[in-house]
Amino acid sequence: MNFTLTEEQRLIQEAARDFAQNDLLPGVIERDEAQKFPTDEVRKMGELGFLGMMVDPKYGGSGLDTLSYVLVMEELSKIDASSSVIVSVNNSLVCWGLETFGTEAQKEKYLTRLATGEIIGAFCLSEPEAGSDATSQKTTAIDKGDYYLLNGTKNWITNGSSAEVYLVIAQTDKDKKHKGINALIVDKGAKGFELGPKENKLGIRGSDTHSLMFNDVKVPKENRIGEDGFGFKFAMKTLAGGRIGIAAQALGIAAGAYELALKYSKERKAFGTEISNHQAIAFKLADMHTNIEAARNLVYKAACDKDSNEDYDLSGAMAKLYASQVAMDTTIEAVQIHGGNGFVKDYHVERLMRDAKITQIYEGTSEIQKIVISRSILTD
Ligand code: CAA
Repeated sequence: MNFTLTEEQRLIQEAARDFAQNDLLPGVIERDEAQKFPTDEVRKMGELGFLGMMVDPKYGGSGLDTLSYVLVMEELSKIDASSSVIVSVNNSLVCWGLETFGTEAQKEKYLTRLATGEIIGAFCLSEPEAGSDATSQKTTAIDKGDYYLLNGTKNWITNGSSAEVYLVIAQTDKDKKHKGINALIVDKGAKGFELGPKENKLGIRGSDTHSLMFNDVKVPKENRIGEDGFGFKFAMKTLAGGRIGIAAQALGIAAGAYELALKYSKERKAFGTEISNHQAIAFKLADMHTNIEAARNLVYKAACDKDSNEDYDLSGAMAKLYASQVAMDTTIEAVQIHGGNGFVKDYHVERLMRDAKITQIYEGTSEIQKIVISRSILTD
């Protein structure tokens, strides 16, 4: 495939790179240590159009393609994956889900504010016992005529306390299994909706991850997305696109760590010469560069599949599986190349290594990607 960028895509990539260097980098270590949500940075990303990148301009979005979105995710993630996950969830899961499957009224009420970044959203699928096994939802949305009565707990929700709008997946009719699940739009402040404690995480510590509790929350019927029973398909279709965003995040983390290791290896001297002159280091850099380029090709291919209305379940899952492994491997090697300095926060690579791990877990673990991939190749 030819991934020559258009002038517009190149300019967007440059804008994201500049923003990451000038606005995300200065406070990234402090935000990580203090688990501080990047409030000002999110506001600026909204102004730059990064929070509703693929949304039609008539709903306040930037009207761009998936490849542009991936380029932005890659650049932001080189510096700060805590900020890029906020971009990913808002774009791929919340805005895309609402624009593709929401009613006109839902789009007017919610999408326009989400796409401009006036507010951000959260996607609530995972539960204490239903992370990978997404059909085993315990949260219930009982049909009460003109509203659903929502009860249950959701776990590990990105943007948990900072979102204003929550897309909640819940079981309406247990007997119908995945066909009895609905996706509901829940407003922050709804009576009976409570925020659980913030998780103290290994990585992406700047993003706010919470459990959420719903106790007899009344959700109006007009807040259901799609037909009755569409919730599971809604989640699967939305996550399929989300995986491209997380694959781009993994790619960016890997590329960020590689760039730091390359620079460091040309500055740091040992045994009378820059360490890049030692084959032990040069070969590591060669492997990192090759793996990142292969990951980039998979990620851009998945984005182009989506843009050309091809099926992207398989290419997105492959991109996420591979890029997240490359993120893990590359960041570990970047720490190794930095030696003792790599273990110190000021050099950034230890944070990138911690952040890399989540890309193998959220929006489907690596094992889930292998289920999606193997099913696809075995049924073709
Ligand atoms: N698009 C459309 N429909 C799909 C689909 C897709 N990508 N994948 C499955 N479906 C449909 C199937 O066609 C089937 O429908 P029919 O009965 O009409 O044929 C239905 O959904 C059930 O499919 P399966 O039998 O394949 O379902 P399964 O229970 O075996 O699950 C799975 C498949 C891939 C393992 C799925 O459960 C899964 O993806 N799990 C992981 C969930 C996940 O990613 N969780 C992450 C949480 S969100 C998050 O992390 C966000 C964040 O904060 C960053």
